[in-house]
Amino acid sequence: MSDFKFLRGPKDWWRQAVVYQIYPRSFSDSNGDGIGDLKGIISKADYLKTLGVNAVWLSPFYPSALADGGYDVDDYRDVDPRIGSLEEFDVMVQELHSREIRVFVDIVPNHCSDRHVWFQEALAAGRGSKERDRFIFRDGRGENSELPPSDLSSHFGPHGWTRVEDGQWYMHLFTKEQPDFNWDNPEVHEEFLKTLKFWSDRGVDGFRIDVAHALKKQLDPLPNRSSYSLEVMKDDGTDPLFDRDDVHEIYAEWRNLFNQYDPPRVAVAEAWVHPHRRAPYASEKGLGQAFNFDLLAAAFDADAYHDIIESNLEFSASTGSSSTWVLSNHDVIRHATRMVIPGYGESADGFGSENKWYVEHRMDNDLDLELGLARAQAATLLILALPGSTYLYQGEELGLPDVTDIPSDQMQDPQWFRGEGKLKSRDGCRVPLPWEPTGTSFGFGPGGSHLPQPSWYAKYAASVQDADPNSTLNLYREALALRAKLITEEQLSWQESASGTLLFERPNGWLCFTNFTQHEVELPQGDLLLHSGVVSGGKLSGPATAWLKR
Ligand code: GLC
Ligand code: CA
Repeated sequence: MSDFKFLRGPKDWWRQAVVYQIYPRSFSDSNGDGIGDLKGIISKADYLKTLGVNAVWLSPFYPSALADGGYDVDDYRDVDPRIGSLEEFDVMVQELHSREIRVFVDIVPNHCSDRHVWFQEALAAGRGSKERDRFIFRDGRGENSELPPSDLSSHFGPHGWTRVEDGQWYMHLFTKEQPDFNWDNPEVHEEFLKTLKFWSDRGVDGFRIDVAHALKKQLDPLPNRSSYSLEVMKDDGTDPLFDRDDVHEIYAEWRNLFNQYDPPRVAVAEAWVHPHRRAPYASEKGLGQAFNFDLLAAAFDADAYHDIIESNLEFSASTGSSSTWVLSNHDVIRHATRMVIPGYGESADGFGSENKWYVEHRMDNDLDLELGLARAQAATLLILALPGSTYLYQGEELGLPDVTDIPSDQMQDPQWFRGEGKLKSRDGCRVPLPWEPTGTSFGFGPGGSHLPQPSWYAKYAASVQDADPNSTLNLYREALALRAKLITEEQLSWQESASGTLLFERPNGWLCFTNFTQHEVELPQGDLLLHSGVVSGGKLSGPATAWLKR
């Protein structure tokens, strides 16, 4: 990839890549059944090329009963027939590769689905069997094992243990349809190496590793909680459930396999750990990169952004990895909406106020979405100028707000309907994309849409924005094209700037200036290359970001 001449060679293509996350069921539907599919992705290969991304990451497309949006996997080495086939997968990889777009797939190693053949075998084989040892089965408490083995809760509520017919219980950190694997069992190790090899051999370039910090557990005594809230998670490698030091032995094994390929396969960890514990996941002896989710929980504030940028550049430098930047994904409220939710970013982990607002006000609110979009564009241009790689989520290039008012009976997310009314639904960021202003599903496909699309989707449609030089879509396209030209060594230096603004410079004189306030401010010296907001008389409106060149 010629644009990446500043990377240290073809094996380092990922270091400053722009990776676009596709949620396959909601991206593009080729046959009108309301579910996005691989043929739909293939039909948008030119769109992705024109957008200018370097890679796509596909959320799970494996056969699944969809108890958790596909993160309940029936078979790790196949494609859900509703989404396509392995042959279509190969065509998709070819089509993307021929446009210099790499492919990441999602690996879900903490748990599978209760329909996975191993779990079915475990149920049939009974207590004490080697089949059950691939999972975490225990006898219950009470005279007849009628009480769960411990007071473990699950993320999607309520219980973390489910009883099977013969009276034993199995552990699941997520829904009961997602039994946790026993990573002390060597067969589990072999099985995942086989899966990683399977996709690597098919030409997959990288892997996103789901809940990478949960695989190893200390189960004696059995833990009584299950929360990956950082407030309760220990931060020294001894937590019974998360971020244990020995989890890295698994990733060292995987690295061994990745390095047998040319170029070596890459991976990025989804690990919600204390920031100072992120480094080993990103080590070149491990997965190589780790998501930095700090901006998902941060207020839109110059000081907060400054500190997050500083600390993450330090973490990545300490392991030789490059930093990652994320503003949206399939688990959080889209950033164009999130950034104007009252109280957002004020609580310790940021998510408390978002949940509360969602539960209380989602159906009826007067959020200032214009301000939300201005902040979203400003934040996006800022992260695109940072050293490291950027992960974009499908639809953010359209400036899409979250769909907060999906009727409860049409929600699909287990976090919503099993969370006892306390947890937001993640369906609002998973609504199928609007490609056209009209049609039965706004051009998502020739039929309907598996989640309801709001009428205001029309004005956000990709084709509408394509024709509008001032659209968010065209801003993203220009920014990615410019970034590819400007990309340089992975450093930045901060420059003096007014309060409520941030200014940094990359080694080649590329300046990024962000105005976090809501009033206009003086632009710094330099040739103006690109900006969000409005520039007039040497001033930039707020909130907005400008790129300049010295
Ligand atoms: C990750 C995924 C999320 C899923 C969970 C369980 O956090 O991003 O969507 O529900 O893991 O697999
Ligand atoms: Ca379809």
